[in-house]
Amino acid sequence: MKKIAVLISGSGSNLEAIINACNSKNIDGTVISVICNDPKAYGIERAKNLNIEVRIINHKEFLTREDFDDELDSYLTQVSPDLIVLAGFMRILGNKITKKFDNKMINLHPSILPLYPGLNTHEKVLQNNDKNHGITIHYVSSELDAGPIIAQGLIEVKTNESKDHLIERIHKIEHILFPEIINEICKGNIGLKNNKVIFKNLNDANGGLIERFYEL
Ligand code: GRF
Repeated sequence: MKKIAVLISGSGSNLEAIINACNSKNIDGTVISVICNDPKAYGIERAKNLNIEVRIINHKEFLTREDFDDELDSYLTQVSPDLIVLAGFMRILGNKITKKFDNKMINLHPSILPLYPGLNTHEKVLQNNDKNHGITIHYVSSELDAGPIIAQGLIEVKTNESKDHLIERIHKIEHILFPEIINEICKGNIGLKNNKVIFKNLNDANGGLIERFYEL
């Protein structure tokens, strides 16, 4: 069974979806550790309620980004996970750590990348009257929100939809697609080779990535 470390900064709803999927055997893996950079994050409570150990590495206690990354690196090296999942982790990681873990670190981003890397994606979708919004799951590279894409989940933006409603629907598809992709990685059906995502035994990765459209 694959060992998964999950990095969070906030509410942790995706973390909870991942832990639940592991517990119900929908992910062929187990969350061995949760790492959080914000001691006030609600995700810490969620993890504790689900009996998962949380390591707090508060970025405010480090003088530089590199020092924070080094502490994270040394903890990850110690727990030695097969997969590192960034689930609402809001720190930008530097070159050294992203290179070291590049074939085992994935991120969830709430936009259809390469559209809208960075923050405030929901606002941008609404401002631009985009037809669709969605999520991207990708391997992490040193460039922000720009690593090799594994999967995208899309929804249609409704007429006059509020930001809160849009976010709620984005969360719903995150909680479906993210555990599913994590499971395929754990089963060895998705991997990274020469900076390219490799799919095995997956019929729906024809265009070089998995793309799902959700009606909800
Ligand atoms: C998610 O929408 C994720 O895409 C973004 O931050 C949010 C985290 O939510 N990066 P949660 O902490 O998993 O509830």
